[in-house]
Amino acid sequence: MPVHGLTPTLLRLLPVWIILTPVSSHPQQSRCQLIQRTALCSNGKLSSVPSGLPVNIEELQLNYNDIQTLQEDSILHYPLLKTLSLACNSLEKIESNTFQDSKFVESLNLANNNLHIGYQETSYALKKLPGLRALDLSENKLDDEMAATLLQNLSSLEYLNLSGNLLQRLDEISFKDLHQLKELDLQRNIMSELDGAFESNTKLQRLNLAFNNLPCLMDFHMTQLVVLNVSHNLIEWFISRQDVNDTFQLETLDLSDNRLLFFPFLPNQSHLRNLYLSHNTIKFYEHLADNTTFPNLTTTVEFYNTKKSTSNVTAQLWDDGLHGDISSVEILDLRGNQVEYFPQGFIQKMSSLSRLQMCTNCLQTLNLTSEQFSGSLYELDISNNRLIQIVADEGSLNALSNLTYVNLSLNNLEQLPSRLFSSLSSLRTVDLSYNNIDICISEVTEIRTDTTSACVDWKKVVSLRQLYLKGSNIKIIPLSAFTGLLLTHLELSDNPGLIIQQSIQGLSRTLQHLGLGNTHIQDFDFSHFKSLKYLNISGNSLPHLPSSLLNIDLKVLDLRDNRLSTINSGQANVLALKLHHVFLTGNPFNCCQTEWFRTFEAVKTIDVVGKSDIECEDLIQTTHRMEHFQSFLCSEEGGESVFWYILLFLPICLFFVGISIIVLLAFKPKMLQKSIKKKCLKSTSY
Ligand SMILES: *[C@@H]1O[C@H](CO)[C@@H](O)[C@H](O)[C@H]1NC(C)=O
Ligand SMILES: *[C@@H]1O[C@H](CO)[C@@H](O)[C@H](O)[C@H]1NC(C)=O
Ligand SMILES: *[C@@H]1O[C@H](CO)[C@@H](O)[C@H](O)[C@H]1NC(C)=O
Ligand SMILES: *[C@@H]1O[C@H](CO)[C@@H](O)[C@H](O)[C@H]1NC(C)=O
Ligand SMILES: *[C@@H]1O[C@H](CO)[C@@H](O)[C@H](O)[C@H]1NC(C)=O
Ligand SMILES: *[C@@H]1O[C@H](CO)[C@@H](O)[C@H](O)[C@H]1NC(C)=O
Ligand SMILES: *[C@@H]1O[C@H](CO)[C@@H](O)[C@H](O)[C@H]1NC(C)=O
Ligand SMILES: *[C@@H]1O[C@H](CO)[C@@H](O)[C@H](O)[C@H]1NC(C)=O
Ligand SMILES: *[C@@H]1O[C@H](CO)[C@@H](O)[C@H](O)[C@H]1NC(C)=O
Ligand SMILES: *[C@@H]1O[C@H](CO)[C@@H](O)[C@H](O)[C@H]1NC(C)=O
Ligand SMILES: *[C@@H]1O[C@H](CO)[C@@H](O)[C@H](O)[C@H]1NC(C)=O
Ligand SMILES: *[C@@H]1O[C@H](CO)[C@@H](O)[C@H](O)[C@H]1NC(C)=O
Repeated sequence: MPVHGLTPTLLRLLPVWIILTPVSSHPQQSRCQLIQRTALCSNGKLSSVPSGLPVNIEELQLNYNDIQTLQEDSILHYPLLKTLSLACNSLEKIESNTFQDSKFVESLNLANNNLHIGYQETSYALKKLPGLRALDLSENKLDDEMAATLLQNLSSLEYLNLSGNLLQRLDEISFKDLHQLKELDLQRNIMSELDGAFESNTKLQRLNLAFNNLPCLMDFHMTQLVVLNVSHNLIEWFISRQDVNDTFQLETLDLSDNRLLFFPFLPNQSHLRNLYLSHNTIKFYEHLADNTTFPNLTTTVEFYNTKKSTSNVTAQLWDDGLHGDISSVEILDLRGNQVEYFPQGFIQKMSSLSRLQMCTNCLQTLNLTSEQFSGSLYELDISNNRLIQIVADEGSLNALSNLTYVNLSLNNLEQLPSRLFSSLSSLRTVDLSYNNIDICISEVTEIRTDTTSACVDWKKVVSLRQLYLKGSNIKIIPLSAFTGLLLTHLELSDNPGLIIQQSIQGLSRTLQHLGLGNTHIQDFDFSHFKSLKYLNISGNSLPHLPSSLLNIDLKVLDLRDNRLSTINSGQANVLALKLHHVFLTGNPFNCCQTEWFRTFEAVKTIDVVGKSDIECEDLIQTTHRMEHFQSFLCSEEGGESVFWYILLFLPICLFFVGISIIVLLAFKPKMLQKSIKKKCLKSTSY
């Protein structure tokens, strides 16, 4: 009994690999792997479905073959088939009776074929699949009419992929039978109109319309939809129907890379959590709502539906109270817009806001006191704006107890609230690069009492791990600037003339990433930085590689734009084995001392970034691509080189060649005549 029970289990545990030698017309080409009830026959150059497979298979993978027609009898042998995948063949049609005995087929993948040719017959075939739930018709050059024909009566379908086709206009007819549809992918078509297209699909939850040509989405009222992706279209207006009493189920709305001028008019009640609006031209117009300053300004815009008189849409333009329900928003991505300020109470409404991404906008001030960010705020990115002022009182800062990431780089800040960073108890990453904020000289801060300060004191920010202070015009880092900190990342690049003293020695145990590019530092001792993995010392006019680098376990080293002429072979051997990436371009390397280069080339684990761009200078200061330079042009000792000989010989050779040519040209006629004469003389031998 135990033996009897064990056998089937063993069979199931050990994948059974059967290499089937086919009986059909292309014996040596068709090969299938059989794993339990799945037959894997992809990449087999098959022109038809193999017929010798076990009768009870449930899944058949035939991707990347050459099947042009799925013939009537081709899957007759496999009545239990549930999943059939024929992606990336050159399938033109499925004959109408192909599926007459395939009661169980649930999933059919026909992606990347030529079904536009035989769509009519294929549509008859599909109608015979009563249990079809998932259908992939992506990339089949289907137009509106072909798609509508193929989808007729597929009332059991739950998942449909029509991406990468030629759909232009959808209307009520397009998907009218798909009552069970839950997910629809329509991205990468050329759609410019959706006229009530999804009215019949009352169960639709995920809709992808990305990469089309839609100019607007008006009167949005698909309350059951959970994910709507309309990114990469030409959308100027997104307006949801305001008089719907139900709560919209919408959780994710992606409107990025469009042409929105206004913040979208969101549903009045929803569960919207992720709102992606990057790369539009959104700004807020609350200042225009005041009708005393602009008495004659239009306040509403109306959209008339030319077909049905029931759906005229009126939008109140300047009233930012109409943004709809943003109370559940957790991620708000507004990168690359034109926001100058937030309307009153806007931030406060988002009581679950966790990430605010505002990179590349036009904010000038940020008043944390009046905005009242939620305590759940985790990431605040206001980099690349026009910030000149940040205002915050003690209470509003203490409330931000979850704030972990703050990016204020690329602004015009010269002052900050004194306690800004020391009050944020979860702060791990701060980027203040490319502003004008200095590091405080300790004595001065002790006596400072006013609320803003032109410098930042990092001493008490114990949770901090990553600090980016590039291009901040810092001249001196005070000795005790980083005492007590456990930084893993420190970026000080682009502070030319920076004096570091011993200030960062205290970080030697924790520091993994150190940026000192373009700081003009010279003799720095790295030997204590045992955790360092990334070091940037580019642009520092270094004449040779700091030998202290050899003792640490670096992975990435940027040595670009220095004055290195070579790397001695001992150092090269050590570095080649440790480093994963090294940057070396922009150094005046000596073409005749390139042993290090060959070492780096030979070791496969090191990536010499931009290797073909590394240049070297030969003895007469001509630059060459190091990769192509022929070292035989240098002598062994690096003293006199073959090069000199070539240099000496070249004019002489040229001289002789020149003379020869002149002589040749001058005497050519004569010589010609002579030779002719000779020939004539010879030939006249009668
Ligand atoms: C398709 O559905 C329509 C009704 O919606 C029905 O009249 C027709 O017979 C069906 N066609 C097939 C082939 O099932
Ligand atoms: C639809 O098909 C395209 C192309 O074959 C694919 O990239 C995409 O991921 C599919 N969509 C879904 C939701 O699976
Ligand atoms: C929307 O679709 C685009 C294109 O497929 C994709 O890159 C993007 O990640 C999608 N957005 C969301 C929120 O999934
Ligand atoms: C919008 O929702 C609020 C409650 O969330 C409700 O008081 C208001 O009447 C709704 N507005 C419309 C136009 O339905
Ligand atoms: C919403 O509710 C209001 C009052 O309860 C009702 O007058 C209105 O007709 C409802 N709107 C819809 C679209 O159901
Ligand atoms: C200005 O708006 C208020 C309400 O918002 C309205 O009562 C008033 O009539 C408007 N005045 C003008 C000149 O439009
Ligand atoms: C506003 O419109 C009224 C009537 O249309 C006109 O008399 C007035 O001059 C306009 N005011 C401005 C500031 O354009
Ligand atoms: C929509 O606007 C048109 C044009 O002004 C008008 O004829 C129609 O009655 C309006 N429909 C509704 C429902 O307001
Ligand atoms: C910041 O907001 C607070 C509270 O609304 C206000 O009292 C303060 O004047 C504002 N500060 C600035 C500089 O706007
Ligand atoms: C901070 O984050 C934690 C974990 O993500 C969460 O449990 C907590 O509620 C958040 N605090 C606030 C004030 O939202
Ligand atoms: C801060 O933002 C800038 C510009 O958007 C970006 O380049 C930089 O990587 C960000 N810093 C960090 C630490 O993520
Ligand atoms: C090193 O720093 C320089 C100067 O800021 C910068 O241009 C370069 O991209 C950095 N190197 C790497 C690998 O990031």
